[in-house]
Amino acid sequence: MLILGIETSCDETAAAVVRDGREILSNVVVSQIDIFAEYGGVIPEVAARSHLEVVLPVIDKALTDAACSWDDIDAIAVTHAPGLLGSLLIGTLTARTLAVIHNKPLYAVHHLKSHVYANWLCGGDEQNDSNVPQFPLLALVVSGGHTQILYMPQHNRFEIIGTTHDDAVGECFDKVAKILGLPYPGGPSITKAALAGDQNRYKLPHPKVDGLDFSFSGLKTAVLRAVQKEVRVEISYPSHKLQDLLTPQQVADFAASFQKTAVDILCEKMRAALAEYPDVQSVAVAGGVSANTILREKMKDISSVPVCFPLASLSGDNGAMVAAACYYEIMSGVKPTDPYTLNIYPRIPIA
Ligand SMILES: Nc1ncnc2c1ncn2[C@@H]1O[C@H](COP(=O)(O)OP(=O)(O)OP(=O)(O)O)[C@@H](O)[C@H]1O
Ligand SMILES: [Mg+2]
Repeated sequence: MLILGIETSCDETAAAVVRDGREILSNVVVSQIDIFAEYGGVIPEVAARSHLEVVLPVIDKALTDAACSWDDIDAIAVTHAPGLLGSLLIGTLTARTLAVIHNKPLYAVHHLKSHVYANWLCGGDEQNDSNVPQFPLLALVVSGGHTQILYMPQHNRFEIIGTTHDDAVGECFDKVAKILGLPYPGGPSITKAALAGDQNRYKLPHPKVDGLDFSFSGLKTAVLRAVQKEVRVEISYPSHKLQDLLTPQQVADFAASFQKTAVDILCEKMRAALAEYPDVQSVAVAGGVSANTILREKMKDISSVPVCFPLASLSGDNGAMVAAACYYEIMSGVKPTDPYTLNIYPRIPIA
């Protein structure tokens, strides 16, 4: 079964053709990172306009790269939730129109489900191919907008067992990078800066949050206060001016100390989750932050059950993961949606 996956929930316009939920025939991603690097974050209206400009060429290229015509496509899958309202609208309106024109079944897919299913995609990498998550599993979704632990007893069944009370961990990476004067997006630039840093130089607190929930806004503020203390300014000193007072070594040490703390918090909660769910056969890490090399290293040691990650190139938003999630929805008996009435849900949870 060939599925065309379309993803436009935030600042990537993406389309891909995937066979049977695992084999990527094409995967086209146009990122708006260069546009938003200047502003240090996404501007929703600009994101929607950028999607509109490139969405059709991106879909055309996905079909061309896969050497497919519309006749070969069995279904169209599109992200309908959650995400930025204008961005979701462009993707879904495009998919709805194409589904009607080409008479294809249309499936509406939740974005976090897609991130989790990136773990089923093969990448021509042997370890990834043999490392398909086994059920029941725990999924740790760590992205720009979410930080959640999901219990998945079988395909297409999700129970949220932990979630953040405030910021997502990816958002925290982005905000800390801003304080340190590192470029957007913060995740990769913090990892890069941390290479030259001492992760033990600054002691940052772990939030006290009950159960399997998270909180990351306190960690961001802790970094801000530690930087202000280090450069000896009042707490009222504007955060955007702090970067001018930091030496490159201080930036590297803050980046490394923050990254270590954020990763330790995630690992700590996953250890607790595994203790609460002893039937779990594997862990699947998903979302943009799952590209983090330190997280990848440390998560391997949290348990004796296998810990799976998507290929780093599939951690961020892409169309292949939408097609993969759709395939397993179809295998679970989900029926297509009506292209004339499909709605978007900017904030709806996965379960
Ligand atoms: N190597 C990395 N280390 C840590 N964080 C990273 C890394 N690479 C990317 N990120 C972070 O991942 C986030 C983007 O991930 P993703 O694209 O999954 O989020 P999103 O789609 O914007 O949000 P959501 O998936 O919750 O809707 C950004 O916050 C970015 O800083
Ligand atoms: Mg995402």
